[in-house]
Parts: sequence; C-alpha cells; structure tokens
Amino acid sequence: MKEPDLPKGVTSSKAGAIARRLGSISGGRILDGATGNGAFIETLTKTLGYYDSIVGIDNYPSGIPRELVDSANRRFEGKSISFLQMNAEDLAFEDESFDIVCISHSLHHLADIEKALGEMKRVLRTGGLFVVQECYCDGDQTMAQRAEILKHEWGARIDTLLGVTHNQTFSRRRIMDITDRLGLRELDVYDSTHSVDCLYCDRRHEC
Ligand SMILES: C[S@@+](CC[C@H](N)C(=O)[O-])C[C@H]1O[C@@H](n2cnc3c(N)ncnc32)[C@H](O)[C@@H]1O
Repeated sequence: MKEPDLPKGVTSSKAGAIARRLGSISGGRILDGATGNGAFIETLTKTLGYYDSIVGIDNYPSGIPRELVDSANRRFEGKSISFLQMNAEDLAFEDESFDIVCISHSLHHLADIEKALGEMKRVLRTGGLFVVQECYCDGDQTMAQRAEILKHEWGARIDTLLGVTHNQTFSRRRIMDITDRLGLRELDVYDSTHSVDCLYCDRRHEC
C-alpha cells in the first residue's frame, strides 16, 4: 500500500500498521456488519490484498437509503459488493459462510451486542478473521480525539432521546471485554490516534 503525502499525525499513528495488516489478508467472502453507508467497505477495498466479495448488512430502519445505492453503484462499480437490509442479531446466512467478518464503529450502536457478535461468529468459518474497529473514550487522547468524543456524546444523547440505541463511547476495557468474550484464538490489537480511513481521506490535510 502506498502511503504518500500524509500529515505528521497520521504518519505517527498506527493507521499505517492497520492498513498493512489488512493488506496482508488475502480474503475470500467478507461480511461487514452494521455497515451504515459502507464507509468501512470502502476502506477494505483500498487496503485488502484480495477479496472475492463483500456483503454489507445493516438494519436500515427506513429501508436501504436510495442515496446509498446510488453512491455504492458509483464507488464500487464493477466490484462484487452488495448491501442487504438485515438485523445483525439474526443473520440470514449459513454457518461458516464467510472468511472475514467485520464490524466498524458500531458496537456501541447495537441493542444486544452479545447476540449480534454471536451471530457474526456463527457465520465466520473456523480459522477466519474477525475485525473490530471501535473508538474508545479513556487513556491519553489527543485534542482532536477529545473533541470527537464530545461530539459523539452529543449525537448519542440525541439518538437516545429519539429512542434509537446509541451508547456513549465505550472505554477501552469495555471493548476488550466484549472481544474477549468472543473467545478468539489469537488477538492482534492496534491502538491508533487515527482511523485507517484517514490514510485515504481527501481532507486529511485540513482535518
Ligand atoms: C455508526 S453507523 C455505521 C458505521 C460504519 N460501519 C463505519 O464504519 O463507518 C452504525 C450502524 O449500526 C446499524 N445498526 C444498529 N443496530 C443494528 C443491528 N442490530 N443490525 C444491523 N445494523 C445495526 C445502524 O443502522 C447504523 O447504520
């Protein structure tokens, strides 16, 4: 992966290491749970060494947004990428039908985390890879990260008032407890001040 023209903050973060790890994967069938507008799918298409297909699922309470379909057609033209409306807690896939399952920035959006992750593990083949990307609120945070946490707190409060599940940013320990309960065989953990998306973002010098 080429890492040209990066601001210092991104270079000194672990974002590059995460991208390299993803680049070392030669994946087959991939599931992105709680995909939203498919931002993490875009990251995967830029970082993965190889993949056969990617399916993004989300419960899309008002149906799959038309803009998503239009923008996905533009962004992922010619690629084997699809979006389905589906509850992560009740996946309509056979056991062990994916080589990689991912969930990005969405653990704190799930009403029943154990159930959703249990389903994702069920559809992951033995020896497959479970990728979790999530922000945390404690430890040493940069000013930008602290601002992001405060902004997120505001959004989560509004969603909660509207009756939509949206927890405050979890602590690092909470995220580790959640992933520990998955009982994965090996665990690689990367703490980064920047998301891997920042490597490719057009606004990386303005942010
Ligand atoms: C922050 S957004 C997605 C972010 C995206 N994965 C990314 O990396 O940018 C969280 C998403 O979780 C979805 N969601 C919440 N509960 C869900 C569930 N039970 N099943 C599927 N999707 C769910 C919401 O609809 C929302 O689109």
